[in-house]
Amino acid sequence: MSYAVEYARSLADPVGFWREQAELIQWDRAPEKILSKDANGNDAWYADGELNTCYLALDYHIDQGRGEQTALIYDSPVTATVQHFSYSQLREQVALFAGVLQSRGVTKGERVIIYMPMIPEAVIAMLACARIGAVHSVVFGGFAARELASRIDDATPKLIVAASCGIEFASVIPYKPLLDQALDLAQHQVDACIILQRPQARAALQAIDIDWEVAIAAAEPAACVSLKATDPLYVLYTSGTTGKPKGVVRDNGGHAVALRYSMQAIYDVGPGDVFWAASDVGWVVGHSYIVYAPLITGCTTILFEGKPVRTPDAGTFWRVIEEHQVKVFFTAPTGFRAMRKEDPESLLLRNYDISCLQALFVAGERTDPPTYHWLCDILNIPVIDHWWQTETGWPVAANLRGVEPRPTLAGSASFPVPGFDVQVLGSDHEPLAAEEEGDVVIQLPLPPGCMSTVWGDHQRYLDAYMEQHPGYYHTGDGGYFDADGYLYIMGRTDDVINVAGHRLSTGEMEEIVAAHPAIAECAVVGIEDRDKGQLPVGLLILKDGVQLPAAQLEAELVAMVRQTIGAFANFKRAVVVSRLPKTRSGKILRQIIRKIADDKPFDPPATIDDPAVLVEIREALMTAGIGQMAETQG
Ligand code: COA
Ligand code: AMP
Repeated sequence: MSYAVEYARSLADPVGFWREQAELIQWDRAPEKILSKDANGNDAWYADGELNTCYLALDYHIDQGRGEQTALIYDSPVTATVQHFSYSQLREQVALFAGVLQSRGVTKGERVIIYMPMIPEAVIAMLACARIGAVHSVVFGGFAARELASRIDDATPKLIVAASCGIEFASVIPYKPLLDQALDLAQHQVDACIILQRPQARAALQAIDIDWEVAIAAAEPAACVSLKATDPLYVLYTSGTTGKPKGVVRDNGGHAVALRYSMQAIYDVGPGDVFWAASDVGWVVGHSYIVYAPLITGCTTILFEGKPVRTPDAGTFWRVIEEHQVKVFFTAPTGFRAMRKEDPESLLLRNYDISCLQALFVAGERTDPPTYHWLCDILNIPVIDHWWQTETGWPVAANLRGVEPRPTLAGSASFPVPGFDVQVLGSDHEPLAAEEEGDVVIQLPLPPGCMSTVWGDHQRYLDAYMEQHPGYYHTGDGGYFDADGYLYIMGRTDDVINVAGHRLSTGEMEEIVAAHPAIAECAVVGIEDRDKGQLPVGLLILKDGVQLPAAQLEAELVAMVRQTIGAFANFKRAVVVSRLPKTRSGKILRQIIRKIADDKPFDPPATIDDPAVLVEIREALMTAGIGQMAETQG
């Protein structure tokens, strides 16, 4: 099968294409309506189909006689643990925890927040929710209390499932104080918190808390509940342009069909293959490619609790690949930049035989060409940059190893994936010619698996994604196609930045910084960084008469962002300036500020009120040692 034929067919006959794909998963009631409109007027896939995602991920494989196969390997160098769960063992744990949830009154459609590090109980809790039709909302363990609180208020969960601590390199991070603070901050009251006690830091439990082990000991296993394909499986919050995160809603049916297709067509893996996505269950990569896609496909998935470096060294990824015989590996480029910094000659790779590895996939941020070439040189296997987002749930552009592998090119995410009609439009909504950079959009209908709405706020979904270019989904990324049809994603066109593979809102950071009593006005922009891709930098205008030393102000702001969003925001620099560039109508030109930190020449656009302000800001950044950090990015 050629890529061109498969892709053309997916667009010419989406109903036929996705009907065939739907036939490859097990339904309780096979769908007859393949594509229809939901109550919001949105495209909906498989509206009359019924299924259970947990059944597909676990029970189905056991019913097929593969219960003894390893479903999940928990590899945790930070706790010196390697633990294997067969499909039967994982189902047993999941069914019991689903029983715990049911016994606590959690029913279909109710939300459960999961605030856990990379431990098997996080996966067990997710699948247990899926089993009984509860809607999970996993909150990344690096988020501080206020972020957790805002998600509690938006998702209004009945229960929260948390662990007593996470582990960052050698540091133990107690979660319980953060959870307690979040519950204090939130308006919404939960019924109970189920706490998994880890030996590294046991938490003092209060009246509202239930010990995970105690609850499991008393539980009866719960069976799978049949759900509509369009019922929500989860809500995953992601950063938008404002301080309020967006709850991306994922359905059950389209999601299962799309993920199964992606494993075969994009990653070229099948039942029994070992697939490893080194990410975090708190992000979409973790949802799709640590938990659901590999398990729905009958693979062995790896849950890795550690970092690419210093756990114990920059060879840890190679060790995991050899030890568990990983066939396909997926992670964010930032991890490789960290490894390359510590082991540029990749000497540690020589200690391992990773001949099992057939392909490496990278995503989450742009792969800078030096990192891409380094990986190609040291691994000598296909290195595939592919592009997607929390909203889409699975890759929009990739090199399809299971359909027709094509040469990969540095800096390109290759070609649109079947189902995604990707186009590059100008501000007049017209398609641009090859090599011309514009808004990367997807013509509707989106294929199965993509978000269906913003939790509790459908208008926000329309405003954020459907308004800019009518008839198209607006990705928020800019880019272009080359003459051969390769897609290049060049970065966000909005106020979202990507720091070490983590998606963050500069608007949210601005709200925090602006709350400092010394600040009159501020802009937070993402400046290119060699190691983390981008780093947020605050540009500050002080109120008249403020005498605070710059270093003290910076330290206070850094602490505020750390305490409000979390350390992973990497907000470490803030620079006082006398003016900010604005349009004549007074809008701060963040996009333009972003471009001035490196020493490349630039032309201030005609819309700007005073081009001299950019020169001043550039000098202020240089004086503060910010900028000229982008030498490896080109
Ligand atoms: N819980 C608590 N704190 C966390 C955290 C978590 N889950 N994740 C990160 N942090 C903290 C770090 O400990 C660090 O704290 P510090 O400032 O006190 O040192 C801070 O946030 C910055 O973290 P990060 O930018 O991640 O740097 P790092 O040195 O800890 O790790 C990488 C660097 C490259 C290893 C790491 O960023 C990484 O693995 N990124 C990939 C992200 C990813 O998988 N994205 C999904 C897309 S595939
Ligand atoms: P997230 O929703 O956290 O997965 O982040 C999605 C955003 O990350 C996208 O909108 C892009 O800006 C960026 N991104 C993800 N993958 C890539 C990639 N392969 N190349 C360039 N940018 C990427």
